[in-house]
Amino acid sequence: MKFGHFDDARKEYVINTPKTPYPWINYLGNQGFFSLISNTAGGYSFYMDARLRRITRYRYNNVPLDMGGRYFYINDGGTIWNPGWSPVKTELDEYECRHGMGYTIITGKKNGLKAEVTFFVPQNYDGEVQQVVLTNESSDTKEFAIFSMAEWCLWDAQDDCTNFQRNFSTGRVEILGSTIYHLTEYRDRRNHYAFYTVNDTIDGYDTDRDAFLGSIYNGWDNPETVKAGKASNSFADGWSPIASHFKKITLAPGETKTLIYILGYAENPQDKKFADTKPEGLLTREAWVLNREKADAMIDKYNTPEKVAAGLEELRTTWDNLLSIFRVDTPDDKVNRMVNIWNQYQCMVTFNLSRSASYFESGIGRGMGFRDSNQDVLGFVHQIPDRARQRLIDIASTQMPDGGCYHQYQPLTKKGNSDIGGDFSDDPLWMILSVAAYIKETGDWSILDVQVPYDNDESLAKPMLDHLTVSFYHIVNNLGPHGLPLAMRADWNDCINLSCFSDTPGESFQTYTNPKFKAEGGYSKIAESVFVAALFTYTGPAYVGILEHLGKTEEAAKAQAEIDKMKKNVMESAFDGEWFLRAYDANGEKMGSHECEEGKIFIEPQGFAVMSEIGKDVGADIKTLNSIDKYLNCEFGLVLNNPAFTKYYIQYGEISTYPGGYKENAGIFTHNNAWIICAEAYAGRGEKAFEYYSKIAPAFTEETSDIHKTEPYVYGQMIGGKDAKNFGQGKNSWLTGTAAWNMVAISQYILGVKPEFDGLRVDPSIPAAWDGFTATRQFRGDTYEIVIKNPDHVNKGVKSLTVDGVAVDGCIVPVAGDGKTHKVEVTLG
Ligand code: BGC
Ligand code: NOJ
Repeated sequence: MKFGHFDDARKEYVINTPKTPYPWINYLGNQGFFSLISNTAGGYSFYMDARLRRITRYRYNNVPLDMGGRYFYINDGGTIWNPGWSPVKTELDEYECRHGMGYTIITGKKNGLKAEVTFFVPQNYDGEVQQVVLTNESSDTKEFAIFSMAEWCLWDAQDDCTNFQRNFSTGRVEILGSTIYHLTEYRDRRNHYAFYTVNDTIDGYDTDRDAFLGSIYNGWDNPETVKAGKASNSFADGWSPIASHFKKITLAPGETKTLIYILGYAENPQDKKFADTKPEGLLTREAWVLNREKADAMIDKYNTPEKVAAGLEELRTTWDNLLSIFRVDTPDDKVNRMVNIWNQYQCMVTFNLSRSASYFESGIGRGMGFRDSNQDVLGFVHQIPDRARQRLIDIASTQMPDGGCYHQYQPLTKKGNSDIGGDFSDDPLWMILSVAAYIKETGDWSILDVQVPYDNDESLAKPMLDHLTVSFYHIVNNLGPHGLPLAMRADWNDCINLSCFSDTPGESFQTYTNPKFKAEGGYSKIAESVFVAALFTYTGPAYVGILEHLGKTEEAAKAQAEIDKMKKNVMESAFDGEWFLRAYDANGEKMGSHECEEGKIFIEPQGFAVMSEIGKDVGADIKTLNSIDKYLNCEFGLVLNNPAFTKYYIQYGEISTYPGGYKENAGIFTHNNAWIICAEAYAGRGEKAFEYYSKIAPAFTEETSDIHKTEPYVYGQMIGGKDAKNFGQGKNSWLTGTAAWNMVAISQYILGVKPEFDGLRVDPSIPAAWDGFTATRQFRGDTYEIVIKNPDHVNKGVKSLTVDGVAVDGCIVPVAGDGKTHKVEVTLG
């Protein structure tokens, strides 16, 4: 069942009922100010950091689920309704939500009154603009009232939802004309404030939540002020400050009225926090005066429909330009809309927010993940390479001099998070991959010379290349008994915790280390990760390629020897006959072997091992891919492991705590499905690659949205696996490495347009039925118009390649570097 449709021409998903199986959300903003907005206008805003600078409040784990947001209430002759249906939930005569690129338009209609609300965060602007267009489509004059509502969060979202004994007494607001200011803690140690304004006179306001609702026993669905058709002009003094504007409107038949609301955030320099004179009409209890210049300028920027239209146009142009860097036209509409619109859009969101704030990530638990953000770069780097460059430097700055990494850092401070610490065995490798991806995209080798601090200490700064070297040798210097990388606290799979042996509730699997291993230096010196071994052999060649380019042939040969040795070690100790093992546990026992009772085969190491061609000479690649098909493939994708664990294995940790079919215990973890899609394409099996792709790519789940539940336009982290009761049900949508990796899988492996150090590789691996496809790729200042022909209906194999009519050997298009458009013609066969 569907709950809407794709409007590809407008790059929107159009939802036609507020009652989606889960809140279907969008993200507004892509630099400093961010908002989450659901199809019923739920959600919240923050500046840079969802934990440390939360602007509006949101209650997670609420009942009903999505309650709290920016709400407009209309009281039209006693009928009270919201354009987005929630929170009052009066049945609407018409409803539509259009989620687009950085904006959302929600339209509701009731009793002949239509309200169309456009929400967006303009480019380079720290605020959310909300344009409300009210039209009287009835034949009678309408007199009605509209109330806005936003609830302030007291900045630190963690503190805000725990420290009530203090917070119920700290809230401070002011009102000046139609602008309500939120000033909690501004006088003292903060230099930032927020405001909510409307570009018209108002007939009243509320700033105290309980006064607005009329009773502490009322919810957002039942505000007394709205019912009374009149604001109470409350002034919040502590408790829970909100901002609500009240306006009375009369519309003749056919008449339209536009109101523009802005929810903004501003920071003042320390020496410019205060103003000298109090503005006339200011409602305040403060003796000091806020310097309002920034808010004034922001309000001025979008206070007319013309300015709003220009802001929207700028946003649209920005996205059109971003999405024109890579465009394809394949025989499959769903592929086209994923590649040309939604997958790229999601890559921007994951790049911006890592795993911090979604409807499944509270924004207070995690900042930027080291491994996550490095992988996010892979799907984003072609869009705005300069931002990727800065991100790589920020991430590398949190690294330790020995190559170890803080597992996460806080976006506002950019400092490593010592609560989580480090010793995740895979972390350093992702940085080699992301820096290489940046160089391959841009040809900008100078990034390797940038002096980048270790542990955020400038005195420890070394060139970026040094960071790659310590990353590579962090693996080489930490090998276990079989010459495989030590598993440490976890690898990519946060839930395989081989040094944990936890038997006490509440111990975090990610941060707890058994005292026995703590004494040995933090982790078992026996437990080894085959996944990290395979990631090492997949990633290592990029490091070698960099060294070779720099003419460091000896270092390159030394690194290559380590890669070769690792491949040998894997074949000797970690090939199980039909697939690769997952690990050796701290007891030296195999994990992910046919000898195991449960968890005989795992997905993670297989794709990278295949793409590293480990054991290819003895057919290990095809055997492995066939085993995945046989044991992990099911209707909705590839499960992570099989059979699912049915009991707690203390030696494995968190993975076995999940009920079978969910999360890392045999859930369909879409992120590593992408690695198999890449591997199938790499091995030339375009049919299988596409089969797996189409099982998890969101546009393909649209028809079964009732089962899949989460948004049909973005990937989620997980889909319930074949052992789950809710087989096929999506979870944890939006913030997942799947966005970047499936962008890589479809664009670089299936469609085969892949930046390399020395040019643009074009080597597709597609379904044989396709006659071909076309693609446009902007690359290092040139534009390549690529035509792929598949007259013999093969999966893979470049028979000929021409650039502007001139034949080129192999399948790498050399960089023209003349800023012009070039025609690339590839014939498969
Ligand atoms: C989840 C992982 C997550 C980890 C760290 C685990 O409970 O299953 O997916 O990465 O916690 O937050
Ligand atoms: C989610 C984390 O963000 C990611 O880093 C990890 O790889 C997966 N969970 C698998 O555990």
